[in-house]
Amino acid sequence: MAPDRELFRTPPARAMLAASIFSADFAALGESSLAALKVGASLLHVDIMDGHFVPNLSMGPLVCAAVRRVCPDAFLDVHLMVTNPKEFIPAFVKAGANSVSFHVEAVKNPKELAAFARDLGVSVGLASNPQTPTAAIEPFLNDFELHLVMSVHPGFSGQGFIESALEKTKWIRARVGSRARIEMDGGVEPNNGARCVAAGADVLVSASALFGKPNLAQAAKDLLDSFSTTSRVD
Ligand code: DX5
Ligand code: ZN
Repeated sequence: MAPDRELFRTPPARAMLAASIFSADFAALGESSLAALKVGASLLHVDIMDGHFVPNLSMGPLVCAAVRRVCPDAFLDVHLMVTNPKEFIPAFVKAGANSVSFHVEAVKNPKELAAFARDLGVSVGLASNPQTPTAAIEPFLNDFELHLVMSVHPGFSGQGFIESALEKTKWIRARVGSRARIEMDGGVEPNNGARCVAAGADVLVSASALFGKPNLAQAAKDLLDSFSTTSRVD
C-alpha cells in the first residue's frame, strides 16, 4: 500500500499520534520507526534542525530517505526548523516527505513558499514558535493543510509543555474549522493530551513521552488513551 498522501487533507475522525523520531534510538532508527507505527502512531514526525534557526543539529535528507526505505507506507511529516526552508524542501520531497512544514519566523512570503512546496506534491504546514503572536499567522490561515503550534521552544525534545499553546490552538481552530489540521508539538504527555485535543489539536507529536519510556507499546497506549475519547473540535 502506498503512503496515504492525503492524510492531512482527509483525516480520520479521531486525533492522531505522530511519533517524533528525534528521540528514537538513532542506531536502530528503522526498527524504532516501524515499532512506533506498529504500536499506534499514525505518522512519523521528522525534526530537521540546522544549528541556525535553532541551536541544535538533527538530521538531513539522507536520514529521511533511509526512514522512507524502511517504512514505505508511512506518512512522513517533515518539520523544518531551518533558516532557509526553500533550499531544502525539494530534497526532503525527494527523500519521501508527505508533508513539509516551515516556520513563519523564517520566511518572508509563506503563501508563495506554500505554493512552491505544494507543486512538488506534498501537504504544507506553517509552524510558529510559542512567543510568535497569532497576528503573524492570521494572513495565512487558509493557505496551509496544517498549522504546527510549538508548545516548547524548538530545538530540543524533553522540555515542559507551554500552556499558552492551548490558547493559540483554540484561536486557530475557531478560524480554520475542519479545513486544516492543527499539530501540537512539544511536551505532549498523557497528562495534557486530552486538553490539546479539546483545544482543537488533531495531530499530537511526541518524542520523549514515547521513545524515552522503557516500554514503547505502553507509552503509546498511555498517550492514545489520554486523548482518544476526547472529541475533535472543528
Ligand atoms: C522540538 C521538536 C519536537 C520535539 C518534541 O524542536 O520540534 O518535535 O521532537 O519532543 P518532545 O515530545 O520530547 O517534547
Ligand atoms: Zn517537531
